[in-house]
Amino acid sequence: MPTDAELEAEIVRLKRELNAVVLAHYYQESEIQDLADFVGDSLALAQEAAKTRADVIVFCGVHFMAETAKILNPKRLVLLPDLAAGCSLADRCPPGAFQAFKEKYGDAFVVSYVNSSAAVKAMSDVICTSSNAVKIVSKIPKERRIIFGPDQHLGRFVAKQTGREMILWPGSCMVHEIFSEKRLVELTVQHPDAEVVAHPECEQAILARAHYVGSTKGILDYVVKSPKRRFIVVTEPGIIHQMQLKAPGKEFIPAPPDNGCSCNECPHMKLNTLEKLARCMREKTPSLELPTALREAALAPLQRMLEWS
Ligand code: 13P
Ligand code: SF4
Repeated sequence: MPTDAELEAEIVRLKRELNAVVLAHYYQESEIQDLADFVGDSLALAQEAAKTRADVIVFCGVHFMAETAKILNPKRLVLLPDLAAGCSLADRCPPGAFQAFKEKYGDAFVVSYVNSSAAVKAMSDVICTSSNAVKIVSKIPKERRIIFGPDQHLGRFVAKQTGREMILWPGSCMVHEIFSEKRLVELTVQHPDAEVVAHPECEQAILARAHYVGSTKGILDYVVKSPKRRFIVVTEPGIIHQMQLKAPGKEFIPAPPDNGCSCNECPHMKLNTLEKLARCMREKTPSLELPTALREAALAPLQRMLEWS
């Protein structure tokens, strides 16, 4: 078994040999974040994928993120360390059921969160991420009805921010939906000086207790700028690595879930490991492949998102 140091050296060498760029989401394990050429939230990663000149994109995130990179870069090889790294939001929104849902509301404008399959994206008018959802929804003509999917909690948050009524697909994230309000309250009592920062995929009762609600990048920027020294972080704890790098000296307390565990990691994101990252680069597999027609149909709503952001 190679050591972590040997794997890291191999990944650095393979990046050069393949002319590859390694993109990593904030929820990846810290060793992967440290090796990546770019670490970001889902919007920044899509923007980075759209402008890269590398021959190979190695995507350390989940399947829908690598799929987005492939839709934007059909000619490039897109590798991901583990093809099975899915997302409960994408998985709980099957394209057939979403099509039937959409048909019930005829002419509605369809906004899909980027955490969805390429097939659902292809049925949408525009895509959004948690960073730009409010901006995107604000741009939709007032007279249009709006369908928003697949995350109902983000949808409710955006509806409140924009004042737009939206028809919500009843999806949720298996990580963000299980934060415990009771344990969060206990933490705030224990640390009255701490600010609560939360991702909009959390339930409303949690968001109501947050001092700041935003995407992973939004939360990161907030804790760096805030004069406060202590934060309770209500999102996947992988983000805390960047918080510690960008705001050393501040304290970050991960909010616990309601299942008895002390931390709330995304099991999909954590499927990626240094070993799998080195192997996918060494063997140039698994790669993300999509049928041409599907890829082309999903491109227009994604491009609209990039233009509207
Ligand atoms: P971000 O848009 O903040 O990167 O969130 C993506 C995600 O999967 C949250 O669970
Ligand atoms: Fe999907 Fe939730 Fe994991 Fe994000 S944290 S990738 S929304 S399951």
